[in-house]
Amino acid sequence: MIIITGATGNLGGRIVARLLERVPAAAIGVSVRDEAKATGLTAKGVRVREGDFTRPATLEKSLEGADQVLVVSAAIRGGGAFEANSAAIDAAVAAGASRILYTSHQAASATSLFPPQRVHAATEEYLAQQGIPFVALRNGFYANALGIHLDSALSTGKITIPEDGPVSWTAHEDLAEVAAVALTEPDAISGTSPPLTASAALDLGDVARVLTRLTERTITRVTIGDDEWKAAAIARGLPPMVADFSLGMFQAARRGEFSVVNPTLETTIAHPPLPVEHTLQQLLGRRDRSAAGQNRAVPHRPNR
Ligand SMILES: NC(=O)c1ccc[n+]([C@@H]2O[C@H](COP(=O)([O-])OP(=O)(O)OC[C@H]3O[C@@H](n4cnc5c(N)ncnc54)[C@H](OP(=O)(O)O)[C@@H]3O)[C@@H](O)[C@H]2O)c1
Repeated sequence: MIIITGATGNLGGRIVARLLERVPAAAIGVSVRDEAKATGLTAKGVRVREGDFTRPATLEKSLEGADQVLVVSAAIRGGGAFEANSAAIDAAVAAGASRILYTSHQAASATSLFPPQRVHAATEEYLAQQGIPFVALRNGFYANALGIHLDSALSTGKITIPEDGPVSWTAHEDLAEVAAVALTEPDAISGTSPPLTASAALDLGDVARVLTRLTERTITRVTIGDDEWKAAAIARGLPPMVADFSLGMFQAARRGEFSVVNPTLETTIAHPPLPVEHTLQQLLGRRDRSAAGQNRAVPHRPNR
């Protein structure tokens, strides 16, 4: 059985959908924090069991009978992220898996300025030490992370942030597809993968130009200093830790940590990766739908 963790998340859900196109549902299991969120998968014949990386006892049951486990890195920031990922790897080893896959990052590095990359590097190292065939999928930077800039870009016409650098923004759809290939075609990728990126790297000035084209409104990129940005972000209500997290991302991008572009994703999925425009269109559409929903939710008051 192939078992996927995080299957109720954005990436894990898409990976299971892709896998269902390649293997029977009965050969797929998912390990999720909340089984109630995965009833759709149960209905399709996928085995759904509860598994929480921070409660290793649950993983013993959720990974039972695994031939392969794909550990989708848990959405945990800061302390505890490595412990959670390594607990999932331990559980996969204990379950007798003959191959373990992990969703790492294109810029995994012990010396990264962006803390999640240090967690990915430590997790990759831990995985490699297990003595079991493994794959660390070095996923490109999620294009949907650009969503954090949309509100202010659209309300002010500006993306006002510290100096950044090019990022090979990569779509979830393509990363899900490459994971499904890696799970079902063991020769496609082994060990630590090359960076699995889209075909172009764009900085936020480039992104502002794409947004200008897509929205037919002028969106300008404005550069401010790190300290000024952090103070303004905190004044807007962002917790200081979150501000530092984002600042680390800008600083790492500025240093070129996310600028690599590599053809492996394209050759493995056998079609060109989706460009950043695709994800930006999705994000803009989601905002429009949510705004329309909010308008509908306002009760109509007839004129008196
Ligand atoms: N490549 C990149 O640029 C990039 C960017 C951001 C994040 N990431 C990493 O990629 C992962 C997957 O991305 P995504 O878009 O699918 O994120 P997502 O939609 O937030 O999904 C994260 C998944 O992690 C699960 N999770 C959180 N805490 C857990 C725990 N203690 N035990 C087990 N599972 C836990 C969540 O479970 P629930 O469904 O129950 O909430 C969810 O299914 C993220 O978790 C993060 O580690 C990568």
